[in-house]
Amino acid sequence: MKHADIIARLTLEEKCKLLQGKTTFGSWPLPDKGIPALEFSDGPNGVRHQAGEADHLGLNGSMPATCFPTAVTVANTWDEELGERIGAAMAEEAATQGVHVLLGPGLCIKRNPLCGRNFEYFSEDPYLAGKMAAAYVRGIQSEGVGACPKHFAVNSQETRRQASDSVVDERTLREIYLTGFEIVTRESAPKSIMSSYNLVNGVYANENEHLLGEILRDEWGFDGAVVTDWGGSNDHAAGVAAGSTFEMPAPGLASVRELVAAVHEGRISESDIDERADEAIELVLSTRKAVEDAASSFDVDAHHALARQAAAEGCVLLKNDAPAEGASPLLPLPAATKVALIGDFAKTPRYQGAGSSAVNSTKVDSLLDTIDGSGLALVGYEPGFERHGGKNDSKRDAALDLAGKADVVILALALDEIAESEGAERPTMRMNENQVELLNAVVEKNRNVVVLLSAGSCVESAWMEKAPAVLYCALGGQAGAGAALDVVTGKACPSGKLTETWPVRWEDVPSSASYPSDEKQAQYREGIYVGYRYFDTAGREVAFPFGYGLSYTTFAYSDMKTTAEGATFTVTNTGSVAGTEVAQLYVSKPDSQIFRAEQELKGFARVELAPGESKEVTIALDDKAFRYFNTRSNAWEVEPGAYELRVGASSRDIRLAATIQVEGTDAPNPYEGRDVSAYESADVLCVSGASFEALLGHAVPDEGPTISRNMCFRDLNHGRSPIFWLVWAVLRAMKTNADKSGHPNLNVLFIWNMPLRALAKMTNGMVNMRMVDALVMEIRGFWIIGILRFIVEFVVNLVQNATSK
Ligand code: BGC
Repeated sequence: MKHADIIARLTLEEKCKLLQGKTTFGSWPLPDKGIPALEFSDGPNGVRHQAGEADHLGLNGSMPATCFPTAVTVANTWDEELGERIGAAMAEEAATQGVHVLLGPGLCIKRNPLCGRNFEYFSEDPYLAGKMAAAYVRGIQSEGVGACPKHFAVNSQETRRQASDSVVDERTLREIYLTGFEIVTRESAPKSIMSSYNLVNGVYANENEHLLGEILRDEWGFDGAVVTDWGGSNDHAAGVAAGSTFEMPAPGLASVRELVAAVHEGRISESDIDERADEAIELVLSTRKAVEDAASSFDVDAHHALARQAAAEGCVLLKNDAPAEGASPLLPLPAATKVALIGDFAKTPRYQGAGSSAVNSTKVDSLLDTIDGSGLALVGYEPGFERHGGKNDSKRDAALDLAGKADVVILALALDEIAESEGAERPTMRMNENQVELLNAVVEKNRNVVVLLSAGSCVESAWMEKAPAVLYCALGGQAGAGAALDVVTGKACPSGKLTETWPVRWEDVPSSASYPSDEKQAQYREGIYVGYRYFDTAGREVAFPFGYGLSYTTFAYSDMKTTAEGATFTVTNTGSVAGTEVAQLYVSKPDSQIFRAEQELKGFARVELAPGESKEVTIALDDKAFRYFNTRSNAWEVEPGAYELRVGASSRDIRLAATIQVEGTDAPNPYEGRDVSAYESADVLCVSGASFEALLGHAVPDEGPTISRNMCFRDLNHGRSPIFWLVWAVLRAMKTNADKSGHPNLNVLFIWNMPLRALAKMTNGMVNMRMVDALVMEIRGFWIIGILRFIVEFVVNLVQNATSK
């Protein structure tokens, strides 16, 4: 222990207090013991520090900070050094605002395009997600501020987010959902990590001994603090025993008493408490100086410029055709091109996501504001369509009029704020129909259309057929508009590459058959086949493959030399402008005895090249290059024999390949005697229960009682209490009204998906677990006893709170 001397001076109550929040974002201080409070703050793409009333859904205002592009955009750069710089800039801002720990980055795996929070996550690929997250963490912590990568683990849907049970086989867990966290933990030593809301294989992530104890702490050597997601604690004592440190936000003194009682009852040992207290104290003391020494302000313009650079690098050029035969591609636009700016998003940009990551930006550029300095000649602006969908003929007609007066139309299309948000899944992968209709009409008037698409995740793209040029700007942050124009005009040569596969249709994605799961369990039946791992193995058509992105120049690959340590090859810029290529290294094992993906990303490199220039590039392979997780030996193993190293410009554009021999570990086939044929043929669009159980190696676990502390508010209609039927009806009416109005109510959504026990975790001690148990009795149909017990427990709790210090 690092702080045994301090811990020796604390009472059990005091140590327990250290393991929870006292305010929405502050830890519990013990000033007379020399332990100040720690301030946490979101978040992943900028600081969301609420100086006034705080909440975890981004509802109340926060202090101005730079809104950097969200994770999806920065991931598209494949630029770790840039990630580090963004991390450092965010941490500098955090420290000036008195924030010790930033709650980010987010690196959950994009299992399905409809996850409402995909914009906050890096990739469908764990290697890339882990590398980018590690870069952020290094940057954040270089300023002395703590990072808190999240959400650990297997957290890929928002529906029932606080009580959904992710049922996943051990190999998929290790290879897909944990590898990113392993990389971030081992390569950047984050000071803290956030456990996710959900259960993993029947046990809450926050109290999952396998995840937190065996893997995170014992195997990966993590010695920092585990922080619950806000309201994510189920049983703090079980969490502490498993390795969870802070219970957030402010569960109140009732929770301290419960923890103390758990020690007295022998449910956990005081040494568990001591270990967690040590982690808590270390986090407080090691991040203190960053805030104490911080300047009172930061360079707003310099950070805006960094945000702009990141947004430009993160733009992915999806399409760049010549508008007429024999002509050159539409982009970049020459100076003085007469452009019509069309689309509501040109004036009011869509540049970040909704929820806990929403930043109060220091300033926000729009295309309309920034086009002036771009060298283009603006003919006019028209919104063209209703932002949130629906017909508006006069807006449409005015836009068409304008389109006829310009050389080129820049059409700003986007998913609106409602389409993707924390707390809910996207209802569809399609764009709003009115935007597509406008595009079709504009193209009739003027062929030269450049679509600038803002969206935090992929969309179905059949409509792109009509547009000669499409630039995917993702969510570009506060400086995204200027960045997009930098690319449109050629000031920046596009170099972004997709970090998620864009399927042709949503139904093509394996998990779609049961996504999002509306049941308590979310069964990860597709196993390891997430993203390109599925599409490339099944040989299925995609709209845009993983790793795809065009440039204004072209690159040639040559002269590959390979060893088991890595690949060395040459990249040449064969075009006439300077550009950057993101070269990707995939590993394949064509004769594998154990089913596996056709190929997996195992390394990448950004190569900057002047026209005509060649560079020799080496991509080193690490310990993750050939391994797979063997559930029989319960260890990482390597199949011996031939492996193909493939180097290319995307997962579907392999330019060089060579075979190498690898020694391997010769472990037994873990699937022997089990029918895993669905996985051997990657036939996983609709996996049967029996096949899934064969993969799991056991029956799908029982879900347990439905009326319990973990019953969600959305299920109260299945209880036996008229009072709670009423609560359910009111909530449902509020939710339906909000959905209809086009502005989902994040608060209502949160409560709708919230389990009863969260009442005791988010009310600052006003409600305790015994009161929750009384409510459970009430819902089970013991109306009188339930209510009476609740009243008695309420009074007892009130008295105990009043008499505790
Ligand atoms: C989110 C976290 C966030 C926390 C605090 C939760 O609802 O899931 O990502 O850091 O709130 O705002």
